[in-house]
Amino acid sequence: MKRSLSGIQPSGILHLGNYFGAMKQFLDFQNSYEGFYFIADYHSLTSLTKPKDLVQNTYDIVLDYLAIGLDPNKSTIFLQSNVPEHTEMTWLLSNITPVGLLERGHSYKDKLAKGFFPNTGLLTYPVLMAADILIYDTDLVPVGKDQKQHLEMTRDIAMKFNQQYNVEFFKLPEPLILDDSAIVPGTDGQKMSKSYGNTINMFASKKTLKQQVMSIVTDSTPLEEPKNPDNNIAKIYALFNGIDKQNELKEKFLAGNFGYGHAKNELLESILNYFGEAREKREKLKENMDLVYDILNEGSKKARLIAIEKVQKAKEIVGLVGNIYK
Ligand code: ADP
Ligand code: TRP
Repeated sequence: MKRSLSGIQPSGILHLGNYFGAMKQFLDFQNSYEGFYFIADYHSLTSLTKPKDLVQNTYDIVLDYLAIGLDPNKSTIFLQSNVPEHTEMTWLLSNITPVGLLERGHSYKDKLAKGFFPNTGLLTYPVLMAADILIYDTDLVPVGKDQKQHLEMTRDIAMKFNQQYNVEFFKLPEPLILDDSAIVPGTDGQKMSKSYGNTINMFASKKTLKQQVMSIVTDSTPLEEPKNPDNNIAKIYALFNGIDKQNELKEKFLAGNFGYGHAKNELLESILNYFGEAREKREKLKENMDLVYDILNEGSKKARLIAIEKVQKAKEIVGLVGNIYK
């Protein structure tokens, strides 16, 4: 069976962009690919400095993964820092990765522009991501469009290693980026992102969810008048209801006498319906955290066995003779 792998940083609460851009695809492939889905906690250290938040966000993501229907009997759910071989592989890959490649990273440049402290981790972030992917001989990586360049870098790094050591060691992974959900817009129309304060969170309390939906920015066309149907409400609505229903909504906008508030209420209802079952499941899981910890530990052990073997082989290829695992 081919392998699908992806990770999400525990740098905040998950939102509709995370779900439609990435997580929904984890579920869609659950029966046709061997799935590896992890919490990229090492990555989140590049921007998060509050340990308590990191702990909370980490468990929240495991709950989210399980609540939406990731099945630990089918997919391996694990914590990146439980598999320290990811960092060991990162070091091996760092030595064949040109600094220039990393300095051209969109995400790196964006973060610098936003005033993030330029720590080394921020620069070498894509090398750790390449290690995450390459260790597991991954075939497919479901992600949103913002990760496209990181996937290209992963392929570059894999090719460089194979070439330099004249081996066919790393498999070149393919990204899976769906057109319809490549960039889910946030409440302000920019890409929805944990770091922009423009999210709609799938499992927020009903009150917060309502506030978030009501805060979607619209223009001030009066109620009676026709409205531009290509607005953010309609874009997000389509993710839940499909294109036919979106067209019906657009017609209502064009007809007039249909306010943005009405549309927001319809969207809110769609969100609550869509995640209703998952929300209940999440509440139940929260009362049984021991089970959740077990799932994460078991998944991590399983992932680690694969990682240890791959890193050992990589060490032999580059000429490091340490072999305590043999
Ligand atoms: P954020 O930008 O909120 O910090 P992450 O970087 O943790 O999100 O992204 C986790 C996954 O969700 C990645 O695969 C990313 O591409 C996807 N993703 C995040 N935001 C969006 C969005 N607005 N539209 C589509 N996919 C997204
Ligand atoms: N960089 C990804 C993000 O911010 C998270 C991530 C880390 C990832 N390692 C990965 C995604 C490996 C896919 C595969 O969204």
